Amino acid sequence: MSEERILETRELSIHFGGLKAVDKVDMWVLRGHVHGIIGPNGAGKTTLFNALTGFLQPTGGRIFFKGVDITGFPSHRAAELGLCRSFQNIKLFKTMTAIENVRVGFHYRLRTTLLDAIFRTRRFREDERLTLERGRELLETMRLGQYADFKAAKLPYGTQRRLEIARALASDPELLLLDEPAAGMNPAETAELSACIRRISAGGRTIVVIEHDMRLIMEICDRITVLNQGLKICEGDAETVRHDPGVIQAYLGRSAG
Ligand SMILES: Nc1ncnc2c1ncn2[C@@H]1O[C@H](COP(=O)(O)OP(=O)(O)OP(=O)(O)O)[C@@H](O)[C@H]1O
Ligand SMILES: [Mg+2]
Repeated sequence: MSEERILETRELSIHFGGLKAVDKVDMWVLRGHVHGIIGPNGAGKTTLFNALTGFLQPTGGRIFFKGVDITGFPSHRAAELGLCRSFQNIKLFKTMTAIENVRVGFHYRLRTTLLDAIFRTRRFREDERLTLERGRELLETMRLGQYADFKAAKLPYGTQRRLEIARALASDPELLLLDEPAAGMNPAETAELSACIRRISAGGRTIVVIEHDMRLIMEICDRITVLNQGLKICEGDAETVRHDPGVIQAYLGRSAG
């Protein structure tokens, strides 16, 4: 396993008025890892993702991706560098089919211009063929091949969530960030998702996953960062995190209150 820090934050802070949603967080993700981010509701997990992917400007601190300071980069520039995310709530094109949704995800990688499309140039036709071929491969990776021509809205919930990941993969990201991919899934859907995440990871991509499903997190993650009320309270492998008194307290404190 490489020791390269593909992603690193230094004293990253995101404040909303007086609320410190993320408070001076130092964390890093090693290339090739599946890295988990956990913490009770409101811990700052999604806010952290929003800053990492350029959907929010940090209040302070820096973000490095592959050694490049990407603090404040807009989301499309982060995506061009190879950093791509899925959302906590489904954001598919509901009336488009599964394969069409995935093909939309290719647009960062394509060379086709509007003129190519109008005149249906050879480049346009080549890109069309390529996106169809690669799109079908990605659907297979996520075990969605049989749904290629189904409208997204008609697919079962867990299947839609896997389709979102297939679409995110279309931009060929080196680092994929998943925000609660298992939320709302039944155990069978979660098991399928777990196998898909392992397959993506085995393909050489780095994955950062936010999840409340502890079983899934403990099963798939090499390292885990725990946030609570904007602060990093623990980091380590599943065993370390599972037995950390601060982590146990953060979760118990919530359920008791
Ligand atoms: N745009 C915003 N404006 C103001 N406050 C916000 C905004 N986005 C998030 N917050 C607040 O920041 C804190 C962290 O929210 P965030 O969504 O990052 O938590 P989370 O860890 O993802 O929680 P969950 O597990 O429920 O998804 C919460 O108190 C939330 O209310
Ligand atoms: Mg969240």
